[in-house]
Amino acid sequence: MFRTHTCGELSLNNAGQNVTIAGWITQKRELGPILFLIVWDRFGMTQVAINRPELVEKASKFTLEDVVSVSGTVIDRKENRTDKYSTGAIEIDATEITLLNSSKPMPYDHRKDAADTIKLKYRYLDIRKSNVLHSLVTRSNVSGVIHDYFDRNGFIEVETPVLVKSTPGGARDFLVPSRISQGSFYALPQSPQVFKQLLMVAGMDKYYQVVKCFRDEALRADRQPEFTQIDVEMSFAVEDDVMNMAEGLLVEIFRKIKNIAVPRPFLRMSFNEAMERFGSDKPDMRFGMELISLNSIFKGSGFQAFNNAANDPKMSVKGIILEGKSSELSKNQLKKIEKDVQGDGAKALAWIKKENGELDSPLLKFFTAVEIEQLKAMIPEKGTLFIIADKKGAVLTALGNLRKRLAAEYSLYDRNDYKFLWVTEFPAFEVDEETGRWTAKHHAFTDFDFEAAKRGDDLGTISSRAYDVVINGYEVGGGSIRIHNTEKQKEVFKFLNISDEEAKENFGFLIEALEFGAPPHGGIALGFDRLMMLINGLDAIRDVIAFPKTTSASCLMSMAPAPVQQIQLDELGIAVVEKKNDGKN
Ligand code: AMO
Repeated sequence: MFRTHTCGELSLNNAGQNVTIAGWITQKRELGPILFLIVWDRFGMTQVAINRPELVEKASKFTLEDVVSVSGTVIDRKENRTDKYSTGAIEIDATEITLLNSSKPMPYDHRKDAADTIKLKYRYLDIRKSNVLHSLVTRSNVSGVIHDYFDRNGFIEVETPVLVKSTPGGARDFLVPSRISQGSFYALPQSPQVFKQLLMVAGMDKYYQVVKCFRDEALRADRQPEFTQIDVEMSFAVEDDVMNMAEGLLVEIFRKIKNIAVPRPFLRMSFNEAMERFGSDKPDMRFGMELISLNSIFKGSGFQAFNNAANDPKMSVKGIILEGKSSELSKNQLKKIEKDVQGDGAKALAWIKKENGELDSPLLKFFTAVEIEQLKAMIPEKGTLFIIADKKGAVLTALGNLRKRLAAEYSLYDRNDYKFLWVTEFPAFEVDEETGRWTAKHHAFTDFDFEAAKRGDDLGTISSRAYDVVINGYEVGGGSIRIHNTEKQKEVFKFLNISDEEAKENFGFLIEALEFGAPPHGGIALGFDRLMMLINGLDAIRDVIAFPKTTSASCLMSMAPAPVQQIQLDELGIAVVEKKNDGKN
């Protein structure tokens, strides 16, 4: 037996017992003739005192991170007790020590801020020596809550294929070449969307799966090329059924894992309201700083940029107020803030500060007395009003991002606070920036105001039955009520200029399945990694993933992706064309 106890469980209750522990040496120190080791495993650490000369001689050769097992008697540390770790009241008086395996020295100093590249190369050491291990344990606990919740609520867990057919729309697919059908490819699923809808036709009624999804898209701190969804689909369900089920799960996770009582129902807000008030379809509700329309103040303004924007129906003038910080905003800082806003696509940013009851801004000379009085009434003492006049969409996005940046920089929220929100009534369609074509905003199977589309309303104004759940400014989940009628589904493809052949080729099996008595249904997928990032109070999902990829989608430990042998390519009938260096990525 390697151990009778873990390194985290011995206490004064065990005093006098003979025990064996096993783990890694995480500290070693000599005190006169006694050698002390601290032995670590994921449950905790235990001090070992080695008094016997033959054992001292043996153990003195051990180095940090060596794997050992130690047998001995548990004794009270008395005046040397510590509460720095859970077993700090006792130590083991060693009678036997075995070296189970030796370790090379750590390749980096884990107590210092080592470079991410080296930590990712030695990810298994990073897990052992950092909080990543803890966040993986929490992740496992949350997984337990998820399975228990869905089981209790009558859901069936079904695994769906990982080698699927590539379909257009969404992000780029990761492709897997077929050896048996040379020239043909599988795709890795971006989500089990189509399969879960087919399971509804199959009569599964309530499906869930904690499932890996793969998307070849630009990576960010909250995006990985492979990530995990908590995927759900329900038959005979409308929006409230799906939203209540997802809400119940999130509330249970936060209660059981964080001991936080999240009030229900979550706040709900339409997409349009979220954009107009917060400049984002995933607003962080931990702080206010709402967007203010300034059109009425600046209609007729002597400052032409504002006047023009206020009078043009495609443009607007809006602002946000940062309260109480006017004296902290230096000229340089204001310049940097403007630069960031320009990076978001707005042409310029204006500012007006109020101090000692007076306004301060390079623009004051352009304003009338009435404008100045209105601005004075609007801006609180020591407040700064930031203004953007531009195309409507650009104003919202730029102010929305500015709101987020200012809140982070000036700590306008409590990092331990959690604010939940549903965003509903998303537009059904949007124009794809690359192709200029209408695409489905959520996906082509989402139900929407069909009558409006048939009437010929502008596609951009038609709202869908999609909903997102947002926590602290992150989109944690998204779903919709689906189209369950073949004719309607075919019509959607028409709206999107997808030909019958193209639709049949790509989604034929789904369209056909809808003809065999598809029940009304809808669902949602929650991003498990994003949820875990928030629960652990982290800023990047890679800290909650055991073996993550870098932003260039590679694994620094295994060095994937990597070239393969010629024979493998030959079997697949694939020739690799050397990439010309055209300066582009
Ligand atoms: P959607 O594409 O909105 O919906 O994805 C659902 C949730 O998955 C998470 N997510 C990601 N997390 C990490 N890295 C990524 N690259 C990534 N992409 C998405 C987000 C997101 O809210 N089939 C639909 C769901 C449905 O309609 O039921 C779907 O996949 O948290």
